Amino acid sequence: MHEDRIRLPALMDKVMTAAQAAQLFRNGMTVGMSGFTRAGDAKALPLALVERARSEPLALTLITGASLGSDSDGLMANAGVVARRLPFQSDAALRRKINSGEVMFIDQHLSETAEQLRGGSLKPVDIAVIEAVAINADGGIVPTMSVGNSASFAQQAAQVIVEINLSAPLALEGLHDIYLPAQRPERQPIPLTRTGQRIGSGAIHIDPARIAAIVITDSPDSPSNVLPPDAETQAIAGHIVAFLEAEVAAGRMGPELLPLQAGIGTIANAVLHGLTGSSFRNLTMYSEVLQDSAIALLDSGQLAMASASSITLSAAMHERFLRDIARYRDRIVLRPQEISNHPELVKRLGVIALNTALEFDIYGNVNSTHVGGTHMMNGIGGSGDFARNGQLSFFVSKSVAKDGAISSVVPMTPHVDHTEHDVDVLVTEWGLADLRGLAPRERAPLIIERCAHPDYRPQLRAYLAEALPRGGQTPHVLEKAYSWHARYRERGTMIDY
Ligand code: COA
Repeated sequence: MHEDRIRLPALMDKVMTAAQAAQLFRNGMTVGMSGFTRAGDAKALPLALVERARSEPLALTLITGASLGSDSDGLMANAGVVARRLPFQSDAALRRKINSGEVMFIDQHLSETAEQLRGGSLKPVDIAVIEAVAINADGGIVPTMSVGNSASFAQQAAQVIVEINLSAPLALEGLHDIYLPAQRPERQPIPLTRTGQRIGSGAIHIDPARIAAIVITDSPDSPSNVLPPDAETQAIAGHIVAFLEAEVAAGRMGPELLPLQAGIGTIANAVLHGLTGSSFRNLTMYSEVLQDSAIALLDSGQLAMASASSITLSAAMHERFLRDIARYRDRIVLRPQEISNHPELVKRLGVIALNTALEFDIYGNVNSTHVGGTHMMNGIGGSGDFARNGQLSFFVSKSVAKDGAISSVVPMTPHVDHTEHDVDVLVTEWGLADLRGLAPRERAPLIIERCAHPDYRPQLRAYLAEALPRGGQTPHVLEKAYSWHARYRERGTMIDY
């Protein structure tokens, strides 16, 4: 059975049910699971662990690539299976547990988790659970729609459980490029100088003796939940296209631009959609997630090569992608997230980073994670990896949230993920503020006039006018700096009537 998928005959007797494999787990273990923004996640073991936790305590430290699909994060959190979670999530139920203090969430740059495991500053992974297309005759594990941290987990774990997903076609083989940096201090430069270059192998190589269980599954990845572009996101995309056209006209980059990175979510996906039909040709991506917009750009012929760590698509796009995979195979490379997000490579390639802010302040500091400064939304993800190290760092946001009750441009962000030093260009539907080469006192009026919603501009101007006479490199009225957030909490709006 499944000889085409389990190509090492000695492993055949490791095939078992998810419930049997779940018996390998012990309370307090650290578990590394595949899965990155809903793609390539283990489908059966999370449910089996939830079932096991009904009869005995099973509280784990769960490390993944990024967020899981199939509601697994929420189901495991509600069952008490997840005591600690890192490095990223986007599940409503888990978010509630994090914000109530029941789950300890460590919000990490996505390039860092593997390095911290390797360096021993995180507890070693006891069990790795990896979704795979197949196990090769030499024991090599071929991942599915994401690589994430799977190679690091499998390399380190005492026991490895492989979920062979029959719904992931064998045609996915050949998409992956597994390369992991060596231990320090003898580490050599990562030998990657072009987005599409292959520097590793097509499978995760471990000693097959550590494969403790193989579970057969047949469920597709959860579809992405991003919304289609709307008038505001189209306007944001329009500003970015015009800006990049001007950069080309000024001779700062060619019409193929520099490799693009686009963050997760509705807005980043819509912005990338906006490049379809633009004058740019032979584009490349060096990103962490490929959403529908990347496939649309491959289809339009404008995108020549896309490198990432996962492919997260809507249901219709997912089906079409798997059906036509031969058309894309030579133009997509899936890498470990440590490599897709590696500061050394992001800087070497000169990536153009496009990420989303919840809010930013009048000096260009960005909050992408903490609603109201306190409550976790999803996590920083890879946005910091790219924003700090890229050639050009955009942050985009709609100018208001919650029907205008929240301004995305505020006097001071109550939490900072990306400091003013890592932010080059801010964009909302109203316009774009190019902050390069500007001091804080020059940035503030530009951000207010170009990016803020007109309803909030008078309040922002008044704040700045009160702050400037107080002096400083970055003038503030400290006793009022968070008054907008306090007003929203008290009155349900940031508008100062
Ligand atoms: N205060 C409170 N809530 C806000 C807000 C603010 N300033 N700005 C936006 N929101 C809310 C929206 O109302 C929306 O809420 P809803 O889900 O209840 O409708 C939610 O945040 C998502 O906003 P949306 O406008 O739909 O944007 P998005 O889907 O593009 O997501 C982020 C935006 C910031 C949450 C998302 O991009 C993210 O998690 N980014 C951080 C990680 C990252 O950048 N990773 C990519 C690296 S490759």
